[in-house]
Amino acid sequence: MNIEKIRSDFPVLQKQVNGKPFAYLDSACTSLKPKPVLDAMNSYYSDYTGCAGRSVHKFAKRTEEEFAKARAKAAKFVNAKKPNEIIWTKSATEAINLVAHSLKFEKGDRVVTTNLEHSSGLLPWHAVAAEKGISLDFVLCNKEGEFNPEEFKEKIGRKTRLVSIIHASNVTATVSPLKEITKIAHDAGALVLADSAQSVPHFPVDVKQLGIDFLAFSGHKMIGPTGIGCLYGKEDLLEKLNPMLLGGETITDADLNSHVLAEVPERLEAGIQNYAGAIGLGAAIDYLSGIGMKKIEAYEKELGKILVEGLLNNPKIDLIGPKDSKKRGSLAAFNAKGMDPHDVALMLNDKNFFVRSGMHCAYPIHKFLGLKKGSVRASLYFYNSKEEVKLFIENLSTIIKNFS
Ligand code: ALA
Repeated sequence: MNIEKIRSDFPVLQKQVNGKPFAYLDSACTSLKPKPVLDAMNSYYSDYTGCAGRSVHKFAKRTEEEFAKARAKAAKFVNAKKPNEIIWTKSATEAINLVAHSLKFEKGDRVVTTNLEHSSGLLPWHAVAAEKGISLDFVLCNKEGEFNPEEFKEKIGRKTRLVSIIHASNVTATVSPLKEITKIAHDAGALVLADSAQSVPHFPVDVKQLGIDFLAFSGHKMIGPTGIGCLYGKEDLLEKLNPMLLGGETITDADLNSHVLAEVPERLEAGIQNYAGAIGLGAAIDYLSGIGMKKIEAYEKELGKILVEGLLNNPKIDLIGPKDSKKRGSLAAFNAKGMDPHDVALMLNDKNFFVRSGMHCAYPIHKFLGLKKGSVRASLYFYNSKEEVKLFIENLSTIIKNFS
């Protein structure tokens, strides 16, 4: 991979902050955007603004075409059978909420989830449990964030309607054994929803190979815009969802007291859509596919190894998640002994290393690990250089040394 060339595509990476270079190490929160993504969005606003599926004029038709192309790209990216298996949402969060609120549950149904979930994969189930009288069962990961599929066998029972599970953790950097869990769930007659916000941006994800029923991902973590996300769903399952929102384009006919729902995807996409966002995400997918997700994954493994080994080399640092970099993605959450995570992040910020600190929207896993104040997290992407990671480790070590 030609990192210099890649970095030159990202306008923000050409800048300095307070007159000095910076290292952006917060891509698990949100990623940076390359010029082709910005151009694609700008073109929608500057060259042909319109609404898809409504007016017949040229701008509307162009919008419709670009919007449809973007859907087809998103479908191909996760190897869905057809574009209609992608529903646009504003985020992975909305995609998970869409399943939670739209799937038909019967009183007494159960949902299995885990202690590793992001708030987006946990809170919707609290709401559904309260509203629809379903119960939740939890599979706990071990202290490194790994799951034993056998424990899913124990928790998934006759009443389990759905297993909702994080695919790649934004805290422990572990990847859940999704294929095995899906098989166990299907054997018991349950559906599976994956929160893939932290996996789809970083390695090839193939919904057919996983056999998964629903998969949520988000544009802004994969060099696309904010405000756009996707729900992948098997077509027959999407057709059975009760739309969470109703409005323009979700129907084919309406009377004063009734209406006829349109087919998917339209029936699940009420109102004017985020066309610029979807088109921008399409450009992001082109960019990622142009490099190749396998290459991105391999390069991130190299970066992750430097990061993890650098952190493990410092006895004052407690790393969260597996010590073997092969078992993890390219992010690392950690604590410096005796230091508040926010203080560490602020000291790093003073040196222009941008990381995240706190709970990372994942309270239960931090509580499970006894980390009341959360952790510091450096999260990498394919535009980070090895030099940046090495400098980060050096500067972090200096900060910790000066503190003690
Ligand atoms: N889920 C994002 C993170 O982990 C916001 O930072």
